[in-house]
Amino acid sequence: MNDFIRGLPKIELHLHIEGTLEPKLMFELAKRNKIDIPFESVEDVRKAYNFSNLQSFLDIYYQGTNVLQTEQDFYDLAWAYFSRIHNQNVRHAELFFDPQTHTERGILFDTVIKGIHRSQEDAQSQLGISSQLIMCFLRHLSPEAGMKLLDEARLYKDWIIAVGLDSSEKDHPPSLFEKVFDKARDQGYLIVAHAGEEGPAEYVWEALDLLKSRRIDHGVRSMEDPKLIDYLIKNQIPLTVCPLSNIKLCIFSKMGDHNLKQMLDMGVCVTINSDDPAYFGGYINENFIAVQHDLNLSRADLYKISSNAITAAFLNEEKKQNLKKELDAYYLKNSGK
Ligand code: ADE
Ligand code: ZN
Repeated sequence: MNDFIRGLPKIELHLHIEGTLEPKLMFELAKRNKIDIPFESVEDVRKAYNFSNLQSFLDIYYQGTNVLQTEQDFYDLAWAYFSRIHNQNVRHAELFFDPQTHTERGILFDTVIKGIHRSQEDAQSQLGISSQLIMCFLRHLSPEAGMKLLDEARLYKDWIIAVGLDSSEKDHPPSLFEKVFDKARDQGYLIVAHAGEEGPAEYVWEALDLLKSRRIDHGVRSMEDPKLIDYLIKNQIPLTVCPLSNIKLCIFSKMGDHNLKQMLDMGVCVTINSDDPAYFGGYINENFIAVQHDLNLSRADLYKISSNAITAAFLNEEKKQNLKKELDAYYLKNSGK
C-alpha cells in the first residue's frame, strides 16, 4: 500500500512555504546570515517541536523565519521543497506565503516574492512541477495591515493566484477581514481561508458567506455542524485537510480519531496535504501513509482523495484533464483488481 501511495500522482493544496524550513537549512542560513538561533543542534530543534496547540507552534515557527534574509534564501527554501516533492510524485503545488512575517522584520516584499518565484520557474522547467502562490494575511495582525499588504502586492499581482487567511484562529474570526477580502476579490484574486482548524464551525460559515472562500483550509471542525456538512457536500466545497498537523497541534489526540474518512464517506470533497512539513513530521506521502494506515483507507479512497485535489486546484480545465488522465491510468494499472 505504501508503494501505491508513493507512486500516486499527487497535488498539494495546503503548504506554507515557511513551514518547509528544515532544521538543517535553518542552521545553514543562520550561519550564512550570521543570525543567532536558540538551538545547539538539529536534535535540539526537533526536541523543541512539541506543541500543545496552534499558538505554541506559531511562536516557534515565526521565530524560525528570522534566518530568511535574502532573495537567495527564499529561493533555497522553495527549491528544497520542490526537490523533495519531486521524489514524492507531486505534479502541482499551491503554496502559501506569509509576506507580513517578513516585512514586519524589515525584509522587503520584493525580496520574498522574487526568490520564491524564481524557484517556481526552475521547478517547472527542471522538475516538471507546476505551482501557484497564495498570499496569506496574518489574522493576528489588523485588517488595516492586510489592506497595506494588498497594496504592496499590486506590482506582483500576476504571480499570485489567490489570497488566504492564516495564523492564530481563536478570537480572530474571518468577519474581521471581510473588507480586505472584498478588495482582494475586486482585484481579481481567488479566495481561500483557514477556518475550523481550532476555531468553531461558525468561522467556516463566515469564511464561506463573508469572504466567499472557494476552499476551506483544514475545516475539520465543520463536522460539529450537520447543516454546514450538508452545505459543503451539496456545493462540493473542498477541504484541504492536514492530518499530521492536526495530530501535532492536538486537534485530534491520535490519527485513529481523525474524521477524514468519515467526511470522505459522507461525500465531502476532502484532500490530504502537509501544512508545515518540517515541523509536523512529514510531507504529503507521509500524511497519506499515516492516514491510510490508521483509518484503513482503500486504494479507491486514495484515488478519490487525489482526484478531489485535481478538482479543487486552481488550474485550467486542460491541465486538470491531463492530470486526471494520468491519475486514472495509474489507478487502472495499480488498483489491485
Ligand atoms: N500558519 C502556518 N501553519 C498554520 C496553521 N496550521 N494554521 C494557521 N496558520 C498557520
Ligand atoms: Zn495551514
